[in-house]
Amino acid sequence: MPRAEILIDNARVATMAPLAGARGALAGADQGAIGLIEGAAVAVADGRILAVGPRAEVRAAIDGEPGAELNAGGRLVIPGFVDAHSHPVWAGSRAAEFEQRIAGASYVAIMEAGGGIASTVRATRAASDAALLADLLERLDALMAQGVTTLEAKTGYGLETGQELRQLALLAEADRRHPVHIVPTFLGAHAVPDEYRGRQADYVALVVEEMLPAVAAAWPGVFCDVFCDEGAFTLAESARILGRARELGLRLKAHSDEFADLGCTALAAELGAHSVDHLVAASPAGMDAMAAAGTVAVLLPGTTFGLGSSHFAPAAEMRARGVPLALGTDLNPGTCPSESMPLMLAIAARYLRLTPAEGLVAATRNAAESCGRGARAGRLEAGWPADLVLLRSPDYRDLAYRFGGNPVAGVMVGGRWTIGPAA
Ligand code: NIG
Ligand code: FE
Repeated sequence: MPRAEILIDNARVATMAPLAGARGALAGADQGAIGLIEGAAVAVADGRILAVGPRAEVRAAIDGEPGAELNAGGRLVIPGFVDAHSHPVWAGSRAAEFEQRIAGASYVAIMEAGGGIASTVRATRAASDAALLADLLERLDALMAQGVTTLEAKTGYGLETGQELRQLALLAEADRRHPVHIVPTFLGAHAVPDEYRGRQADYVALVVEEMLPAVAAAWPGVFCDVFCDEGAFTLAESARILGRARELGLRLKAHSDEFADLGCTALAAELGAHSVDHLVAASPAGMDAMAAAGTVAVLLPGTTFGLGSSHFAPAAEMRARGVPLALGTDLNPGTCPSESMPLMLAIAARYLRLTPAEGLVAATRNAAESCGRGARAGRLEAGWPADLVLLRSPDYRDLAYRFGGNPVAGVMVGGRWTIGPAA
């Protein structure tokens, strides 16, 4: 029998693995199946979960006394949050724009006037590698402090081949230096940069003919995303970009229906995208295409809140149609400058009407599935990496019920406490 290096005892564990051996994202009636075990323990060795389950069973599964033991005092242990959608590589601030929006200017109008994403691109291009990396690492610290252990992270503030490759390299460097695991996504089609203003077709050609081959050569199999919306890329342009990305062996995602439904949701689902994200203006046809393809819906209620809007994604309709739901922060300087997954759970409960349990599955298991990490994150099962969070509360509902504070008492990544008990 193996020896446990760490035993977390006397916990409640939400495994997110209600049905042993079940694969994939949970949807419909299973969306809230958190797999709660009372009087539970988690044994950890070699960075992995050795055993998880009722205390007596876990004790019986390990050899002798554990190296270290933590009495959780009945508090909740969950898998580390997987933030399914973020844009964390940027320089500068958009506080002035925020002020304009609060005074009445719209996000799309600011973007069309050359502000918005393009303004962050100008600041980011001008920043040094060291400055961008320092900011990125600080954001990872803030995410982890609120329970994130895996982060999907997009480029998209470079918008020229060298700059986009630099953003991917910075994400890889941050992944090496920081405990949080990063899943990188190339988002060259995030906006049209200044030098291509009025020549959007030429920029799309650059993405398709130069950026995508360069990205696929340097980062095989990385995700490719596209922002298909009013003021961003058209359906035809998005189809061309995602189609080429797929030919090059990249995995797909899409920003779709954030402001307007251009038809990209069904397109991305039919192309086999892992996820379609935002979905505020999603149509029944788009939702049905996602359900048919098993595409995960990544909902970003912090963005709607961040925009001061009350028009949230139709999560109840998606759930009714059997679309698996995931959550992300959408951390970015324009619409959601927040590193808090617990806040996303709180907003999702109130405005998407996800129950606390549904939100938890969305922020762990389903989020992991949305970014291709379903086999190594988002669940607590024997053999999986020991990436987990110890909460302050014994009640899983507190995660969504309370807001504005930090519910996290400890974070473990790869079997080591990075925050809390013995960090
Ligand atoms: O997901 N929609 C596009 N991208 C981001 C916003 C990025 C920005 O405003 O800088 C989003 O909301
Ligand atoms: Fe986004």
